[in-house]
Amino acid sequence: MITRAPKETFGERLELYRRRVNTRLQDTLAIDNRVPGDLTLAMQYAVLGPGKRIRPLLSYATGELLQIDAERVDPIAAAVELVHAYSLIHDDLPAMDDDDLRRGRPTTHRQFNEAIAILAGDALQALAFEALCNDPLLSEQPADQLRVVWWLATAAGPAGMVGGQLLDLGAEGRTVGENELEDIHRRKTGQLIRASIMMSSELANLSADVKQRLDEFASDIGLVFQIMDDVLEVEQDTATLGKSARSDANKEKSTYPAILGLEGARNRANVIYENALESLESLGAGAAGLRWVSDYIVNRSH
Ligand code: IPE
Ligand code: IPE
Ligand code: MG
Ligand code: MG
Repeated sequence: MITRAPKETFGERLELYRRRVNTRLQDTLAIDNRVPGDLTLAMQYAVLGPGKRIRPLLSYATGELLQIDAERVDPIAAAVELVHAYSLIHDDLPAMDDDDLRRGRPTTHRQFNEAIAILAGDALQALAFEALCNDPLLSEQPADQLRVVWWLATAAGPAGMVGGQLLDLGAEGRTVGENELEDIHRRKTGQLIRASIMMSSELANLSADVKQRLDEFASDIGLVFQIMDDVLEVEQDTATLGKSARSDANKEKSTYPAILGLEGARNRANVIYENALESLESLGAGAAGLRWVSDYIVNRSH
């Protein structure tokens, strides 16, 4: 029987996609005489370190589902990773989580200084939007491009990630209910993951129904990601994580393991993961890549 489905798994295309986005990021962060040298160095340090690139992988896997050329997904993959890297720099600052280790190396404010770290974060956020606006392929379809920009701005903004970060800090040292914690997680981490999928979806002409199912998947997998991040912080050591295994406990953070216990948190992640996969079910064989990345999100070690 002839089949058109790719024979290899998404796992075998993983490095190809990581290389794609890394090349794009390197180009975006290349030395530019208009940019102060220290700022370029700090941005390169924060972005080009050994991150898993999960958000770009979700953008490319969505591209596979919707049969969008990877060239058209490249600017989306790079932009979401730039915003993610900015969020990590600021998340680690002394005024926020006050962490010294990220991706197995000193955090950006430790490697440079606080002022450079704050400004590198600011610059990366702006650069992400510049990259989306400048891309020649995206610019061929201005209406789609605008909706892509909208997803990223909304996810990163005050009602999304930034708002979630404020609520996360406000939940330190007190016991929150599960509904409140879910809302914080969906905002601080879930929204950007959702956008990494939904930005790619804007490049295809989807029915409202298909878009809704993809969005349900995207929202759920974003929440699962943060629950597993909290679980791993308890279960793994600092060397494996590449970031402090004691950070949440030291700051009395509100996390799923803190309110449900480790097993309770894992069970909750599993229920939402199953739900996410159910939303993908009806989208057909093309969703194999998204299933693969979802599996990676729940089974990773760091
Ligand atoms: C860590 O994200 C921060 C959260 C939003 C929970 P990742 O686990 O994707 O970090 P990197 O990019 O691989 O370092
Ligand atoms: C990170 O959340 C969320 C953002 C950076 C927006 P955490 O603070 O829980 O993640 P880690 O543990 O520092 O990576
Ligand atoms: Mg934090
Ligand atoms: Mg943190």
